[in-house]
Amino acid sequence: MTNRLVLPLPGSEVFAERLATAGGFELGALESRRFPDGERYLRIHADPGDRPVDILCSNADEQFLSLAFAADAVRDLGASEVTLVAPYLGYMRQDARFNPGEAVTSRTFARLVSSLVDRLVTVDPHLHRFTALEELYDIPCTVLRSAPLIGDWIAREASAPLVIGPDAESEQWAAEIAARAGAPYVVLAKRRTGDREVEVTLPDLAMHHGRQAVLVDDIASSGRTLAAASQALRDRGFSFPLCVVVHAVFAEGAYADVSAAAARTVSTDTLAHESNAITVAPLIAGALANLP
Ligand code: R5P
Repeated sequence: MTNRLVLPLPGSEVFAERLATAGGFELGALESRRFPDGERYLRIHADPGDRPVDILCSNADEQFLSLAFAADAVRDLGASEVTLVAPYLGYMRQDARFNPGEAVTSRTFARLVSSLVDRLVTVDPHLHRFTALEELYDIPCTVLRSAPLIGDWIAREASAPLVIGPDAESEQWAAEIAARAGAPYVVLAKRRTGDREVEVTLPDLAMHHGRQAVLVDDIASSGRTLAAASQALRDRGFSFPLCVVVHAVFAEGAYADVSAAAARTVSTDTLAHESNAITVAPLIAGALANLP
């Protein structure tokens, strides 16, 4: 029997409940409001003393200060270990200085988080130029992979699927998902020319005609990658694809754009979104229960 305490930051309450149920953990509550001057007030409604505390946060951009205050407070109240559970780990994409003067936010963010908590547990972080989170973070990191869950979903929902990764980076997910789904996979070539401008080139797909195209990607943000890939597939005679993403970031208007280009668009619940169809809560609960 575990005595872990799950504490959701604002916005993570629904997932926290799923996680606590899946793991048999206690679900605490964080009262949070703003003072009249806009500064944050936080109060923990649970006893974090002498036990591991899992702070849930998938929106570090808006919740970073709350994370800092909550982590410090539970430690001050006697928590034996503080883990940041970030089903979606933000600030992983600006991992290099592409233009002079740019802030390499991946590094800075990792350094700040490492100073706040003892551990990090996350799902499919966007590792591109870095190959492991430990290259950025100074704390033990547990990386979970959603590919088996996505592969099982595809095996259930698609008939004769062809798994398609929209760019070279996605091969790591596409290959594992396809193997699990018992399907072939291909990887497209992508060229990004701006935040919202993407060009996609297809290889020869003649041998796969008649299959259900299933686009898989780790993140849908502007949605341009999936929309452009879908268009390119239809230009080659495929019908509207299924789109499956791990992290449903979906910036303004993106979900509508992708939905219009797809037969169906689904995601895991690392970020709360109407497209969520695959839960990673049991996966994370299992990992937390087995932490050393
Ligand atoms: C790229 O490196 C990622 O794997 C995704 O393909 C990308 O983040 C998707 O972004 P968007 O939805 O803005 O095209």
